Amino acid sequence: MSTSFLNPRHPWQGRRVVLGVTGSIAAYKAVALARLLTSLGAEVDAVLTHGASRFVSPLSFEGVTGRSSSTELFSVENSALHISLGLEADVVCVAPATADFISRASLGRANDLLTTTLLATRAPVVICPAMNTNMYTHPQTQTNLKHLIDHLSYRVAGPGVGALAYGENHGLGRMLAPEEIIEEVGKALVGPSLLTNKKVLVTAGPTEESIDPVRFVSNRSSGRMGFAIAQAAYRLGASVRLISGPVALPDPYGIELVKVHTAQEMLVSVSDYRPKADVSVFAAAVSDYRPKNIESRKMKRSKGNEAPVLDLMANPDVVLDTLGNRKEKSINVGFALETESILENAQEKLERKQFDFLVANSATETDAGFDVETNRVALLFAGGRCEELPLMTKHDVSEVILSHILELLENRL
Ligand code: C5P
Repeated sequence: MSTSFLNPRHPWQGRRVVLGVTGSIAAYKAVALARLLTSLGAEVDAVLTHGASRFVSPLSFEGVTGRSSSTELFSVENSALHISLGLEADVVCVAPATADFISRASLGRANDLLTTTLLATRAPVVICPAMNTNMYTHPQTQTNLKHLIDHLSYRVAGPGVGALAYGENHGLGRMLAPEEIIEEVGKALVGPSLLTNKKVLVTAGPTEESIDPVRFVSNRSSGRMGFAIAQAAYRLGASVRLISGPVALPDPYGIELVKVHTAQEMLVSVSDYRPKADVSVFAAAVSDYRPKNIESRKMKRSKGNEAPVLDLMANPDVVLDTLGNRKEKSINVGFALETESILENAQEKLERKQFDFLVANSATETDAGFDVETNRVALLFAGGRCEELPLMTKHDVSEVILSHILELLENRL
């Protein structure tokens, strides 16, 4: 049994993050990033360049991290701060990273606390560029970035496209959002795993089956469980394709998202990817039935108020219909949401759909299942083993599921 099963941990929990902040207007967003990393359990030491401290105060970082933040290389109190920061860091993240910082880092300059810390560390480094589009696309900046990636194995996250400062309305050069940067930091903290460069397929959300142009048959699935699994697999280095029905969640960072509406569309997308997938996790709540005919016009209320009868037909079973195309030695995980006889029904699905394990939960609890942040699940393994987990966040459940997938991969190699 893996320790991560007993104590699921986010990759950030208890880890030392040196957060380098350089002199860009985006520095204000670094405070939100420091706060987010701290809320995920990381110990964040902010290191500001002098330029950064013109935009935002070291006190702002101390306020959200509860730890001291630093700017000075030559300080009487601690003349070797760059060494201790560098040695103790589990990851260094520079956000925002200006053109000047990128240039100095690529030359190996050591003229401030941040660049000396970078030379003193052997931890992975994530940098998040933020600058004007012309500065970013300038051949010199691109050469510097390529050098950092190719020769120093720095991870470069972003920039994105969006609103920029100083009158440029829109363009390339925007620092990624803190919610995106934490994923890249999480991936750096996890390091290489058995899932690195493996292909992972995840289905998520409900499907919508049209009745007429404005109405559909669907269910209460929020997509949270599947999205959390996709994100956890991304952090473990996998190349993830997430096939999702309509959900109200932001597009996840670093993941190839395929948006579908119906079970038939989901089947087409899964048929395409399942033969290549080393791991498939079927967390979607696929509608078992769809209206036989889709009315081309909105169905009107009848004068006599008689209710129409919906004529339904069976949808394809995405898992069963693609079973013969699954990749050899691949790992396949299913979900089952039941209202009664949970374990018996789940056991039957585990066998019929030939899953390696199945995640079973109840649809009748208020704090688990559909449309909530938490879940209480049991894992049923092919071979009969059953593990009941306590109430956890869906993120923690996804960490446990991934730890079991890693265990299975290890045994299958
Ligand atoms: O709906 P049911 O409880 O049978 O779902 C069990 C598993 O089969 C789930 O992993 C679900 O994603 C998958 N499924 C499917 N196609 C369906 C129904 C369910 O792939 N039409």
